[in-house]
Amino acid sequence: MGWAGDRAPATGLPRPRDARSSAAAFAAAADRRTVADLRAAGSLKWTLAPDRIGAFVAEADFGTAPEVRAALHAAVDAERFGYLPPADDAALAAAFAGWARERYGWDVDPGRVRPVGDVMAAFRAAVRHLTAPGSAVVLPTPAYMPFLTVPGVLGRPVVQVPMVRDGDRLVHDLDGIGRALADGGGLLVLCNPHNPTGRVLDHDELRGIARVVDAHGARVLADEIHAPLVYAGRRHVPYATVSPEAAAHAVTAVSASKAWNLPGLKCAQVVLPPADLDRWHDVGEEYEHGASLLGVVASTAAYTAGGPWLDAAVTYLDGNRHELAALLATHLPEVRYTPPEGTYLAWLDVRGLGLGDHPGRVFAAAGVQLTDGPACGDAGRGHVRYTLATPRPVLRDTVAALAAAVRSG
Ligand SMILES: Cc1ncc(COP(=O)(O)O)c(C=O)c1O
Repeated sequence: MGWAGDRAPATGLPRPRDARSSAAAFAAAADRRTVADLRAAGSLKWTLAPDRIGAFVAEADFGTAPEVRAALHAAVDAERFGYLPPADDAALAAAFAGWARERYGWDVDPGRVRPVGDVMAAFRAAVRHLTAPGSAVVLPTPAYMPFLTVPGVLGRPVVQVPMVRDGDRLVHDLDGIGRALADGGGLLVLCNPHNPTGRVLDHDELRGIARVVDAHGARVLADEIHAPLVYAGRRHVPYATVSPEAAAHAVTAVSASKAWNLPGLKCAQVVLPPADLDRWHDVGEEYEHGASLLGVVASTAAYTAGGPWLDAAVTYLDGNRHELAALLATHLPEVRYTPPEGTYLAWLDVRGLGLGDHPGRVFAAAGVQLTDGPACGDAGRGHVRYTLATPRPVLRDTVAALAAAVRSG
């Protein structure tokens, strides 16, 4: 079946020939970016430790889609620096709903999509307003670092439930999650695609989790911030779609910020179940106020027009995750690494190198700033998280620097 126009009518995706050429153009531009360029651009990743390779925080080194840049330029030229107008709020909700339908087959009523400043605002709102006072946050680990620290600020304990090994992949410990919920857990944090392991959970895994949560009458914060970043062979399944129970107990947090590299613009979206809408109406303003108009403009452009750029970015990242495997096999064969199924994060088990519980400190001293595994929970001892969304020449230099650090003792 041929496509008549530039786009496949059902998906809006570029035609294969276009996709190939835009991926090649993306790769050529990405490969040309130097560390000096990246430091000059001024991201946190490349400026916090100006004498080290930046590979810790989840920022990508590729800029953003031209359609997003154009929308931002137009908004700046029109001096759109005020509070969020209802029309932009509605446009963002419709844009996310369109993206979710097209990419995940998820039919979301835009009336259930609300803007928030960031995903962590959605998390704070869910803990404070949708769970019983004092109830614990149940957190599969390793985990995105703030999930370990923010509950304490909210006066809530965290119960870590280490993921368990199943061959080459880490999976959720359903018995452990069930026990933690039975012992007073009110909210399960379910990050998928998973930071830091890069796992993309399949339908059956998600259904299994939903059954356990439902059996304990608990809630789920489904952190799907990395959903657009899934590699061929896997598919993002929104947690809220796996069963009626999941749809009722999940609060889903999404954002264009990782895929299109917009985290500083402060805009995420929370997708609420119908039964939470009245409560949100009462309490949501505090969290919605954090969403910036420029962030909403950029996110709307990303969801409506940024697909082809994203597809090229994912193709490049796909090359990076495999190149990293080849480089490690050659230069650091003691490191255990399963290429991520989604996200641009690599979770490296470096226990075989004998660097102790905090290998990130050793590598930092040797000039590479990674995320030290224990920052992701007790299960992270002897691991590091590496952000592989970087030009491929920088990726090669990074592995060379890691290997040199190890070989020089
Ligand atoms: C899994 C995950 N959740 C949440 C966040 C934080 O997102 P935000 O800046 O929107 O709070 C990140 C950032 O890297 C992340 O990787």
